[in-house]
Amino acid sequence: MHDIAIPQEMKPGDGRFGAGPSKVRPEALRALADPARGAKLLGTSHRQAPVRELVGRVRSGVAALFGLPEGYEVVLGNGGTSAFWDMAVFCLVEERSAHASFGEFSSRFAERAAAAPFLAEPVVASSELGTHPELLADDRVDAYALTHNETSTGVQMAVERPRTPSGEPAPGLVLVDATSAAGGLGVEAAEFDAYYFAPQKCFGSDGGLWCACLSPAAIERVERLAGGGARFVPAFLDLRAALQSSRADYTVNTPAIATLFLFAEQLEWFNSNGGLGFSAARCDASAAAVYSWAERSDVAEPFVKRPEDRSHTVATIDFRDSLDAGRLAAVLRQNGIVDTDPYRKLGRNQLRIALFPSIDPADVEALTACIDYVVERL
Ligand SMILES: Cc1ncc(COP(=O)(O)O)c(C=O)c1O
Repeated sequence: MHDIAIPQEMKPGDGRFGAGPSKVRPEALRALADPARGAKLLGTSHRQAPVRELVGRVRSGVAALFGLPEGYEVVLGNGGTSAFWDMAVFCLVEERSAHASFGEFSSRFAERAAAAPFLAEPVVASSELGTHPELLADDRVDAYALTHNETSTGVQMAVERPRTPSGEPAPGLVLVDATSAAGGLGVEAAEFDAYYFAPQKCFGSDGGLWCACLSPAAIERVERLAGGGARFVPAFLDLRAALQSSRADYTVNTPAIATLFLFAEQLEWFNSNGGLGFSAARCDASAAAVYSWAERSDVAEPFVKRPEDRSHTVATIDFRDSLDAGRLAAVLRQNGIVDTDPYRKLGRNQLRIALFPSIDPADVEALTACIDYVVERL
């Protein structure tokens, strides 16, 4: 492959477009390294007041960002979203769950529920990749699993409680995997019972932590399933223990303090600038830039056909067969523009571009110009 050098002045200010781990803002990193701010917390006990205050900042920042009503609680612990799926299987699904399955991540939770010997076979509604299914009210089901944004395909769906034929919200908990949506897409707390995520995406932090906003109904379910002794719950997956620790601004075991600090900084950046309206508007601007470019392009098009399903946090762009998107991503990487490769198991001739709030919409605009530059020279 001959080298293609993108002119420096065309390049985005920051070349990180990965869907997670994703761009961490330099301002947050500077605050982390500041001896008077983050640096003095690193290497100190998570059981003492300074780190507990940090956990408190995260919990109150999340509650403020999502406008959580009275009675909702913010819980967090170690293990990332993958750990939370197992916690949900043990502590939030009573007998049977229903799942909207439309990509790698949404299908994983369904598989875990199916594998649990103490649960009934889950109801799984699937749809073609690049679309999402609707979940219908089902009286055999006590928990509905939605994915606000399917990171593997770049499809977003509205968070809404499934409705009965008469239009009433279905009884049962609504559990929403918001890993690549939370902080970038609008949401109403009344529509969910658990809105869970990890902070390595919109929250511009590192992986390894999970965070969940739980409604009073979800908390009641956790107390009953994990507290009654009727069901064996592995200690590490005990959401009731995590809830109790979180109430005291702890985590059950040792957390990554730098991750908590970067998460808190991002929350304060959002909340001091107008909250979810501010952060989602940045994603909307980036989405407008990338999708309008793809629609105008002769070589590219949005993978997701319905504009309302196109993710405003993770864009997937198909390229015509004569152009090798893998090579394009490799040339971008040589030029310092990284992680635009498609989701590894999707197997499409595609680029995947994160549009998280940390990413400057002007950088997304610059990226599209860089892609055009490379395409002309490939
Ligand atoms: C939608 C979604 N759910 C779950 C996960 C898994 O998260 P974690 O790596 O924190 O376990 C990811 C990771 O990319 C994701 O995008």
